[in-house]
Amino acid sequence: LRVLVVASEMSPLVKTGGLADVVGALPAALAREGVEIRTLLPGYPGVLAALGHGETVLSFDDLFGGPAWVQEGRLDDAVIYALVAPHLYARDGGLYTDAGGADYPDNAFRFAALAFAGAEIAQGALAGFAPGVLHAHDWQAALAPAYLHYSGKPRPATIVTVHNIAFQGQFGRGLLRALRLPPDSFHMGGVEYYGSIGFLKAGLQLCDRITTVSPTYALEIETSEFGMGLDGLLRARADVVSGILNGVDESVWNPATDDLIAARYDAATLGKRAKNRVALQKRLRLDPDPDAFLLGVVSRMSWQKGQDMLLANLPQLMARRTQLALIGAGDKHLEDSFLAAQAAHPGRVGVMIGYSEALAHLVQAGVDAFLVPSRFEPCGLTQLYALRYGAVPIVARVGGLKDTIVDANEMALQSGAATGVQFSPPTAESFAMALRQAEDLFRDKATWRRLQTNGMKTDVSWRHPARHYAALYREAARA
Ligand code: ADP
Ligand code: GLC
Repeated sequence: LRVLVVASEMSPLVKTGGLADVVGALPAALAREGVEIRTLLPGYPGVLAALGHGETVLSFDDLFGGPAWVQEGRLDDAVIYALVAPHLYARDGGLYTDAGGADYPDNAFRFAALAFAGAEIAQGALAGFAPGVLHAHDWQAALAPAYLHYSGKPRPATIVTVHNIAFQGQFGRGLLRALRLPPDSFHMGGVEYYGSIGFLKAGLQLCDRITTVSPTYALEIETSEFGMGLDGLLRARADVVSGILNGVDESVWNPATDDLIAARYDAATLGKRAKNRVALQKRLRLDPDPDAFLLGVVSRMSWQKGQDMLLANLPQLMARRTQLALIGAGDKHLEDSFLAAQAAHPGRVGVMIGYSEALAHLVQAGVDAFLVPSRFEPCGLTQLYALRYGAVPIVARVGGLKDTIVDANEMALQSGAATGVQFSPPTAESFAMALRQAEDLFRDKATWRRLQTNGMKTDVSWRHPARHYAALYREAARA
């Protein structure tokens, strides 16, 4: 079976978050299940530089305001199609926003172009590649099923995966014609969404199968609390919605082979983590205290991720023998607050504002506990990396965090199943209790060691998820 994946990010070519990790891991994981994945990405400067010159396999005289072409490249064993469209993607700044952090004003066209090219390829525009499934990720790719639906031509099965329903891609109705959508698509059963054009809405409405990245999030987004306006649609289509957990790309995240950490280790040589701890403390100018309860965070900074709840708990954490190592970027106010905390608690709070893949690995390898106090979390990958690295996750009981961490309650501790600490509801108060509970567990060395090794033994690989995707692809292609 052949599948065209359409996405706006792919690790290691281009990444702002977990979406990239997932799209990057899919080709190899699915190849083991007999599925060939080819991935269509926007030809951002970084992608084109990394792929080098490739053959042009398809061209468009005018794709939403300028010429565009599809260039074939390779990443490891996988075929990558880069959509080269200088008028849309040749920019300084971020993938979605300019250097100042403002959304590009033409994002509707930048990602409609990606979806449009994906739909063309899905319908056989490339000689020798006839995919049985088009798999679109998030709103940036979600118009592809809509273009296929309205093309009136034979098409492959379509799947939309929701990585985060908070980002939906909504644009003014006046763009309908310019986006090459037919006039009769603008209604509730089509692309219309509360009076605008909704990219994610359109995809979810018009695709054959919907997935999201954990079973719990699949249920949550059918409720008004988490559905962000799309819960009604998702309830109506509940029979085609499924939740498939993300896995960990173990060629990238494995403490036994990781080049980015100070000392490699596995569950049998956990003692070597101490070297990573020392390296991390040094790197973030934390006191070289071997007995402090060292907490780590690697995250986008936003309301979703709940770092404000961590700030609320800092005074009481600082009153005990605790250190915090945090790397992240995003919300300016949160960034400034953590920098201020660092200044107020030198040697106890170490902060790096920015993005560093290397430091992200060192945090996982060096901290005692890893914090993910999210208000909602579709899957979450960092708690899975933490499990792999023997950093005990302390997480809010939502979405994929609920599905992947076994809470250290009395029973789970006794049976030896516990891998972390969960708290609920996602408030600063219940987070405070979890932090205290975790510190008590940490001071009991044997118990803590058990939590670490249980986590390291948990299978968080792509093996199971890849099987689910393969089965879903085959079922959708047959239907
Ligand atoms: P989300 O996609 O919602 O941001 P995930 O947990 O799914 O959350 O994925 C986040 C990914 O981004 C992980 O690979 C994590 O290590 C990485 N990441 C987040 N912030 C940073 C940062 N400041 N530096 C390096 N990596 C980061
Ligand atoms: C989104 C979600 C995150 C998930 C990631 C990959 O960014 O916020 O929970 O792990 O996508 O699916």
